[in-house]
Amino acid sequence: MTAAAPSDLAEQRRALAGTTLADLFARDPRRFDRLSLAWDGWLVDLSKERLGADTLPLLIAHADAAGLPGWIRALFAGEKVNQSERKPALHTALRQTGDSPLVVEGRNIIPDIRAAQSRMRTVAAQIRGGLRVGAAGRPIRAVVNLGIGGSDLGAFLVCSALARPPRARGSTGPQTQGVDVSFVANVDPEHLTRALAPHDPATTLFVIASKSFTTQETLANAASAKTWLLAALGKGVDVSSHFIAITGNAPAARAFGVASADILPIWSWVSGRHSLWSPVGLPIALKIGWEGYEKLLAGAASVDAHFRETPLERNLPVLLGLTGWWNGAHLRHAERVVIPYSQALFRLPAYLQQLVLESHGKRVARDGSARAEPASPALWGDVGSNAQHAFFQWLHQGPREAPVEFIVPIDASHPVADHQTLLVANALAQAQALLVGRSPDAIRAELTAQGMAGLDLEAAVAARVCPGNRASTMLLMPELSAYRLGQLLALYEHRTFVEAVLYGINPFDEFGVEYGKTLTGPIVAALSDGSALPADTDSSTLGLVAHVRTQTKLTGR
Ligand code: F6P
Repeated sequence: MTAAAPSDLAEQRRALAGTTLADLFARDPRRFDRLSLAWDGWLVDLSKERLGADTLPLLIAHADAAGLPGWIRALFAGEKVNQSERKPALHTALRQTGDSPLVVEGRNIIPDIRAAQSRMRTVAAQIRGGLRVGAAGRPIRAVVNLGIGGSDLGAFLVCSALARPPRARGSTGPQTQGVDVSFVANVDPEHLTRALAPHDPATTLFVIASKSFTTQETLANAASAKTWLLAALGKGVDVSSHFIAITGNAPAARAFGVASADILPIWSWVSGRHSLWSPVGLPIALKIGWEGYEKLLAGAASVDAHFRETPLERNLPVLLGLTGWWNGAHLRHAERVVIPYSQALFRLPAYLQQLVLESHGKRVARDGSARAEPASPALWGDVGSNAQHAFFQWLHQGPREAPVEFIVPIDASHPVADHQTLLVANALAQAQALLVGRSPDAIRAELTAQGMAGLDLEAAVAARVCPGNRASTMLLMPELSAYRLGQLLALYEHRTFVEAVLYGINPFDEFGVEYGKTLTGPIVAALSDGSALPADTDSSTLGLVAHVRTQTKLTGR
């Protein structure tokens, strides 16, 4: 495979500049066949992306020259792909099938993973079976996960996506919901208050999920959860049976009062945004059962094998990553929009925002040098078809193009009349509308036929034109099951890694989040007891703090 000089890609961009997507389809009647890929029941269609006949081959040659195959091997082999922190990134090991050893710092980590998974399984079975009791001796029936970022987003997404609907009114069948699992991330007291309102302290357990066990929001929520328990169960009561901790900082969890037997590990070689496959996934096992959780892992493992073994030109995460990088680094799109056509996936955009933006939001290259290339696009989105009635106006007629990713489970988990057909049809139609658009001539003809003429007609035409020629990718998945969701998330994890390799950045650190946290402490003190802020504090922050102090009950005034 001959290396593609960067100039080739720049030349490709210039060549495509004046070409519309419609032109590309007109030139190649087999475009859909050439640019869509079927794998394991999935169909991924890239034909509505701005890819010329030679673009993908050039991108693949570039990726090959950039050493992508080596990076993929390094990721799975446990090499220190997280250079700035000198650590491997082995989220894939958490869903590895089979026990072939994987050594990190001289230690085979697979037995540790198996041991943790066996404890997760036991804990989940105990709680789902009503065998775990609280301080009052009553079985735990509700679990509240206290965690934020990667210690919340993945598990919350999967639980909300795979939760089965509550038992139908009047039906006598078995309770199908398992344990009531909810998630509290925000330090906003409203979040904890609303989550606890329906629960009885005697039968409520908290999972404190925090890799560092230093995250302010999570620790504040954990402390208030303990206060809530003690207020109801009695000041001196040992409430440790109401806590499980998932952390890489066991001493801090013990100091908080969690029993050692109730502390499950997160390892340093798993980043938060890749941690739902670790014991951070315990709420998932509680919600859908261990078998369901195993199917999630198996789905992800199937994509790992595909990513690891498939040549670049037929490798789904690679092709999605190359297209994403092409859109960001070469076509300079500032954003990408993700639209899951599945109400159950309403948490997916938020999850992907952390996965992609905490991975790609980097201003320096892997070696620390300043980055020359444009940054990876911002990512946003919401569920379809709701989003059609919210921001699709902007997507169709807005001033600039934002490539869209449609994620569509074809079969419904709970069919109702022809709703699923309508849903899938809407997704396909929106992608078609973005591609084709509506021309002034077509609109003029239509409005003329309705008797419009003159300036009114022209104004009406102008207001209705949709330029089209707007790119999108369609990901069709057979259905939304634990296995398929595992595949979807692993697909996005690996494409995010591919893009990071091409951007030349380290996707596994997140130093940028720390500074804001350090500035919070002095402001908390200033708001709480009027402590002075550092002398170099800007006048805006000083003014805002002064205003809050005069306006609020925060200060206990
Ligand atoms: O502040 C960002 C972050 O560090 C994320 O990377 C992480 O997922 C989240 O906070 C929570 O961190 P922890 O699991 O250590 O509480």
